[in-house]
Amino acid sequence: MAKKRIAVIPGDGIGKEVIPAALKVVEASGAPVEFTTFDWSADRYLKDGTTIPPDGFAMLARDFDAIFLGALGDPRVPSNIHAKEILLGMRFKMDLYANVRPVKLLDESLCPLKGVKPEHVDFVVVRENTEGPYVDAGGVFKQGTPDEIATQEDFNTRKGIERIVRYAFELARKQGRKKVLMSDKSNVMTYAGGLWQRVFKEVATQYPDIQSSHMYVDALCMHMVRDPKQFDVIVTNNMFGDIITDLAAALQGGLGMAASGNIHPGKPSMFEPVHGSAPPFAGKDIANPIGAIATASMMLEYLGLTRELQRINQAILEAVKQKKTTSDIGGSLGTREAAEWISQHVK
Ligand code: NAD
Ligand code: IPM
Ligand code: MN
Repeated sequence: MAKKRIAVIPGDGIGKEVIPAALKVVEASGAPVEFTTFDWSADRYLKDGTTIPPDGFAMLARDFDAIFLGALGDPRVPSNIHAKEILLGMRFKMDLYANVRPVKLLDESLCPLKGVKPEHVDFVVVRENTEGPYVDAGGVFKQGTPDEIATQEDFNTRKGIERIVRYAFELARKQGRKKVLMSDKSNVMTYAGGLWQRVFKEVATQYPDIQSSHMYVDALCMHMVRDPKQFDVIVTNNMFGDIITDLAAALQGGLGMAASGNIHPGKPSMFEPVHGSAPPFAGKDIANPIGAIATASMMLEYLGLTRELQRINQAILEAVKQKKTTSDIGGSLGTREAAEWISQHVK
């Protein structure tokens, strides 16, 4: 089998630690992949002004099967322009419309809630990834005066909603899940929410085997903490999906545990841990590599390398159970040691 070609962008902060750590684990799994690393990051931007080269997205789409990204964000670039152009650029320009964020508790000890067991936290958030306020359309008027006005437009297209809702139902079927819940704030954001409601109901009728329901996003936050076991697949817009997946990450043991894929079925897609560059943690060998390792395993699934990903998932589970982990989830290992332990158990 030809090796799968993976573009690696470690990025900033702890991205530069957790990504190499995760690559070691993938190598140990024997997966037939080859990596090409790109230095797109705050460092590169500060050095020569490059965020992503002019042909960058076309090159990624043409020459690679998948992209593995760490995180972008650095206090030395307060405008965050490089993150916007690289990370959001990839999501938008490569049309990676489904941001898939699985939420799975691996061990009871990792959940901050009382009495919540692994079987109680096992759902997937499907976040729309190309619209909403993330389009960054809007403006300021009368800036710097007492009459200053700022607007930020929220984009919602029928086509965009339909494809993400359909993705959620298809994912439910593929994973043998039974329920899809759509979350919005249609009681206040009536135009956008109204469109989401109509499209969701239309698409749901085509999946009679899957139970469909709705929850306002504020109530969803409450339910996620009080009774997470009710959730199976959640589909929501870009902004709410961002917010609820940090909350959901806490149920799994924190941001250091959470994985994600930015997917357009059939196209080269991008995989990144949910966490950011965590500047206070950077360079200290303390960041949890499991979010990045679990993300690599999602990428292998996308590439059809199931045997390898099962071995990696098993080794992650073992590390968590034996507390061969970083301190955020109760262990005493550094980033490199924690990944090394998992690598040894993958082999
Ligand atoms: P963050 O996710 O970087 O960190 C928040 C906190 O979560 C950390 O202080 C730490 O306590 C914990 N944490 C995160 N990752 C961890 C790990 N691997 N192991 C252990 N603990 C971990 O969020 P932030 O501080 O709000 O953002 C920092 C920068 O990252 C900002 O510039 C932000 O825009 C950027 N960011 C980038 C991405 C991305 O590129 N995908 C995602 C989120 C945030
Ligand atoms: C995420 C991040 C990004 C987002 C930021 C860094 C632009 O928080 O991937 O969750 O808001 O989507
Ligand atoms: Mn986020």
